[in-house]
Amino acid sequence: MRITLSCIKADVGAIGGHIKPSVRLTETVEQFVKEKAKKLLLSYRISTAGDDVAILMAHERGIDDREIHQLAWDAFLEGTRVAKEQGLYGAGQDLLKDSFSGNVKGLGPGSCEMEFEERPNEPFLLFAADKTNPGAFNLPLYLAFADPMYCAGFLLSPKMAKGFTFTIMDVNHTEGDRVIELNAPEELYDIACLLRDNERFVIESIRSRGTGEIGAVVSTSRLHNIAGTYTGKDDPVALVRTQGAFPATGEVLSPYRIGHYVAGTMRGSHNGPLMPVKQNGAISFFDGPPIVTGAALCVHGGKFTEAVDVFDHPFWDWVRNNVAQKAAEIRMQGFSGPAMLPFAELEYGGVVEKMGQLDRRFVVREEKGAERHARAGAATRTKRAIQA
Ligand code: 13P
Ligand code: 13P
Ligand code: MG
Ligand code: MG
Repeated sequence: MRITLSCIKADVGAIGGHIKPSVRLTETVEQFVKEKAKKLLLSYRISTAGDDVAILMAHERGIDDREIHQLAWDAFLEGTRVAKEQGLYGAGQDLLKDSFSGNVKGLGPGSCEMEFEERPNEPFLLFAADKTNPGAFNLPLYLAFADPMYCAGFLLSPKMAKGFTFTIMDVNHTEGDRVIELNAPEELYDIACLLRDNERFVIESIRSRGTGEIGAVVSTSRLHNIAGTYTGKDDPVALVRTQGAFPATGEVLSPYRIGHYVAGTMRGSHNGPLMPVKQNGAISFFDGPPIVTGAALCVHGGKFTEAVDVFDHPFWDWVRNNVAQKAAEIRMQGFSGPAMLPFAELEYGGVVEKMGQLDRRFVVREEKGAERHARAGAATRTKRAIQA
C-alpha cells in the first residue's frame, strides 16, 4: 500500500511564556483532527514538544495535498481560538498569514512529508525539536546516514552498502527552493562543507541509493524569512524510516548522545546544546536548553501503533545530565562570543536597532601628522618585505 506520512507543527500559544501549550489547547487541536480524520486520514497522532504542537498523519493523498494542509491549518486556528480565550502567551504565534492559500509552506507552520510504498514492517521515528532551527538535525542525520563511526550498518548491512543521497536546501534563498543533491560516501566532504552551516544549509531529505526509497525528511521553513522579523524560532520536525535499507533505530538515535550546540534557546538568539527529552514536556532553563523529542512507531495499512518514547530510558538521563552541564557552561559567559549568535543571525529587532544607533555615535579619530607619517612608513616597509 502506498501511503503518505505528514507531520505539520506550529506554536499557537503556551502557558507561562514559551513553555508548553495548555491541555485544553492540545485537546482542542486533537478533537478537530479527530473529526476531520474520518474523511481524510488513515491515522493521526498529536504530540507536543515545548510550546509546539505536532500533528502526525497517515493518508493516501500524497505530499503537498491541499486538504491535508488545510486540516492542519484549521486545527491550529482552533487552537489559537482557545489560546486567546485562555490568555495564553503567543496566541497564534506561528500562523503568520491571515488566510490559508493551499499549503502551509510559507505561512508559518513547519511541515515534513514522505510518500512511499509500505514495507511489510514499517518502523519510523518522529523527531520534534523546540527552541532551535531545522539545521539542528544536520549533524545527527549526517552521522546516522553517512558515518560508520555512528552507523554500524555501513559495515554490517549489505542493504546499505551504496550509501545515501542528501538533498540540502539553502534556506536563505527566499525566492524559491534552492537545493543541491549530494551522494554519500563519494561527496562526504562536500556534504560536510555545507552542513557545517546549520543556519543556511539544511538537510531537506535523504534517499537510499540502493533502493531509491525515501529515508528521512525535515521541515525547512525559516520564520524569519517569512515574517521579515523575529516571530519565534523555526522549531523543526523530522520523519525518519528505520531498519532494512535504512539505519537501525538505535543508529539514528546514537548521535543525540552528543548534545551538540545549536542556535536557539532564549529569544532564539543564543547557542545551546540540544537535549534529548521525553515527549510532551516543558521548557525551562533560559528558555531552553534546545530540546529534541523522539517517538518510534510502526505503521501498517496506514494505521499507527502506539508510540514508544525513545528518550524515556535511563541511558538518556545520563545524557541529559551531561547536556545540562554543557548548557550551564556556555551560559556562564552570558552575551560573550559564541554564547550569543553572531549579529547576522540575531533575530530580535532590538539589538539591530541598538547597533544602528551606536553606529552613528562612532567617530574615526583624527590622526596627528607625526603618527600618520610613521604609519605610512611602516606600511611601505611591510609591502617591500612581502615583495622581496
Ligand atoms: P534483534 O536480534 O533483537 O532483532 O536485533 C537486531 C538488530 O539489528 C539490532 O540493531
Ligand atoms: P519559540 O520559537 O519556541 O516560540 O520560542 C521563542 C523564544 O523567543 C524563546 O525565548
Ligand atoms: Mg513560542
Ligand atoms: Mg517553540
